[in-house]
Amino acid sequence: TSPKVVTVEGRQYKTDEWMNTPASILSAIAKRLHLQPDHPLSITRQLIESRFLDHKYYNRLFPIVSVNQNFDALEFPHDHPGRSRTDTYYINKETVLRTHTSAHQADTFRANESSGYLISADVYRRDAVDRSHYPVFHQMEGAKSWDRNCLGSYGTLAERVWADVANIPSHTIKVEDPNPTIHPERNPLQSTYHSVEEAEAMAAHLKRSLEDVVVTIFTAARAAAVAAGDTTASTQEPLRVRWVEAYFPFTSPSWELEVFWQGDWLEILGCGIVRQSILNNAGVSSRLGWAFGLGLERIAMLLFSIPDIRLFWSSDPRFLSQFSATGPIQRFVPFSRHPACFKDVSFWISSTSRSAGGQVAHASARDFHENDVMELARDVAGDLVEDVRLVDEFVHPKTGRKSLCYRINYRSLERTLTNEETNDLHEKFRQQLVKNLGVELR
Ligand code: PHE
Repeated sequence: TSPKVVTVEGRQYKTDEWMNTPASILSAIAKRLHLQPDHPLSITRQLIESRFLDHKYYNRLFPIVSVNQNFDALEFPHDHPGRSRTDTYYINKETVLRTHTSAHQADTFRANESSGYLISADVYRRDAVDRSHYPVFHQMEGAKSWDRNCLGSYGTLAERVWADVANIPSHTIKVEDPNPTIHPERNPLQSTYHSVEEAEAMAAHLKRSLEDVVVTIFTAARAAAVAAGDTTASTQEPLRVRWVEAYFPFTSPSWELEVFWQGDWLEILGCGIVRQSILNNAGVSSRLGWAFGLGLERIAMLLFSIPDIRLFWSSDPRFLSQFSATGPIQRFVPFSRHPACFKDVSFWISSTSRSAGGQVAHASARDFHENDVMELARDVAGDLVEDVRLVDEFVHPKTGRKSLCYRINYRSLERTLTNEETNDLHEKFRQQLVKNLGVELR
């Protein structure tokens, strides 16, 4: 049962039936990996910050925010799946662990301390367990806005913005951008507030600024790869990036930037023209501008060639001592790969019962969500679980009951696990599935 009050760094929160945040997650708040000197996430943050020197940096914003900050102020629809308790950590009905740095957009615009800002912070999401997902990760939010009342010597806001575009460092990479900036259905102009010229100018400023970030990151990543003797195609071929249309409740038009990396298009960030209602509600209706959000782990993993997201949480000096904030980026050299230990668990998620009429009724599987399995695995095994995957699904032809089989890959990043240890972990996991999710083991 959840405690009635939780205290986090001296702040007290009353919990209610919405509380679904385990103590293990709350204890991650103190880590602030993005601020630890010489940590790869901190180095990645500083590399991006170096491309926005005139922005104000906010790196210590507290992670527990209101539902209003995280969702409502950003105009998330009430039925948006991101709001659900299966995806988001709640403290109570009104209070969540931020799921993205955009939770601070409205407040930062309201503070109006700079025409540009960067927010780096830990964010929290209930999600899969594998080598690229962890329930705590780090994002960087960036925004730039212009004031209609401060055009200086420029006749129009669009002219003012284009003058700023001219000051962004140029590059020679190949950029694919096949779609029009504005598309009436897929990527609409906020025509009540913005002219086509204004949106075009801001979109150009946004895209050039982010292309500059990507060029900086990938130039460093390639240099590190070459220094490490890597001569595979990804270090030889010219860098390719592309803009794709996207949707976010708080921007329009919106885009994602993808980079061709090791044979695949990799999504690097989301961005767009800030919904004017957000700026208006923040009391800065004379301003208009853009925002972006990116995941620092994803960028750090390819920058340093880090193979497993759990490594960021390691205190092993064989990991931490490989990174330095001074000097060129150096590739991570894996110090060991200990054996994996796979274990399966199969269970029924719905039970049968006979109604008075003799018909077979099925207890609904509606309450079962995969993220609950993921979280229990983390709760029991912590960073000793590398991966949790659904490997089989089966509906009994007669009873209609559904059975699932998950495969858990136990592996420590630091040592070889004993059989006894993994057996114990797995047995505990099985028991927790029954106790917490009410499933029936097979
Ligand atoms: N917050 C968005 C996400 O987490 C990213 C984003 C930020 C998109 C700012 C647009 C503008 O996916």
